[in-house]
Amino acid sequence: MIQLCNVFKSYQRGNSRVNVLHDVSLGIESGEFVAIMGPSGSGKSTLLNILGCLDTADSGDYLFNGESVMMANEDELATIRNRSLGFVFQSFNLIPRIDAKRNVELPMVYAGVNQEVRNNRALAALKIVGLEDRAHHIPAHLSGGQQQRVAIARAIVNDPDIIIADEPTGALDSKSSHEIMKIFQQLQAAGKTIVMVTHENEIAKYAQRIINVDDGKIRTS
Ligand SMILES: Nc1ncnc2c1ncn2[C@@H]1O[C@H](COP(=O)(O)OP(=O)(O)O)[C@@H](O)[C@H]1O
Ligand SMILES: [Mg+2]
Repeated sequence: MIQLCNVFKSYQRGNSRVNVLHDVSLGIESGEFVAIMGPSGSGKSTLLNILGCLDTADSGDYLFNGESVMMANEDELATIRNRSLGFVFQSFNLIPRIDAKRNVELPMVYAGVNQEVRNNRALAALKIVGLEDRAHHIPAHLSGGQQQRVAIARAIVNDPDIIIADEPTGALDSKSSHEIMKIFQQLQAAGKTIVMVTHENEIAKYAQRIINVDDGKIRTS
């Protein structure tokens, strides 16, 4: 489904270039649940951002459903993100002033879906994460675990093939973290591919495969 081949990535910092990913090759099959682990600063988020078409590699190749996205422009990358990918971040990234249902509707607003379909699909997504009774609560009136469930509903509302999650339990207590992982398992059982960064062993156990990143290189996968 996705394939990175000999990818390099560096960032400019002041007058020097910092190499972040060195010769990374990696394949992920449809339906897999993969955890990416490694020390802070090892390049996990950089790797995940490239996989999620939020950033591009400097060299090497990235095949998405068999097609190279190395030459894709910003609009083409945005189209892949909107059609095929759903994102979950450590800090939820919900809009504070609007309720859970309207937060979940946002990706469909961008995709030009009409109001009635938006309403039905947002409620269906909230039901999947067990929050249909919180549809009209604003984020501040929800717990951290509930906010992350709203963010997951938002990530799945356009029916993506792949869910990209960067430390999705990093801001949550242990009980909420396990609830989030059970939702991920349920999504995997429904056919989604999940690629998650975590530094917690207890959380990585929910994945079927662990990819260890250290100093910008893959150690085991
Ligand atoms: N946009 C950026 N500009 C400059 N340096 C960056 C940028 N993003 C990440 N880095 C650097 O790249 C390295 C890896 O970062 P990151 O991928 O965020 O690691 P991790 O998620 O494993 O903690 C770090 O040294 C970080 O400071
Ligand atoms: Mg990170």
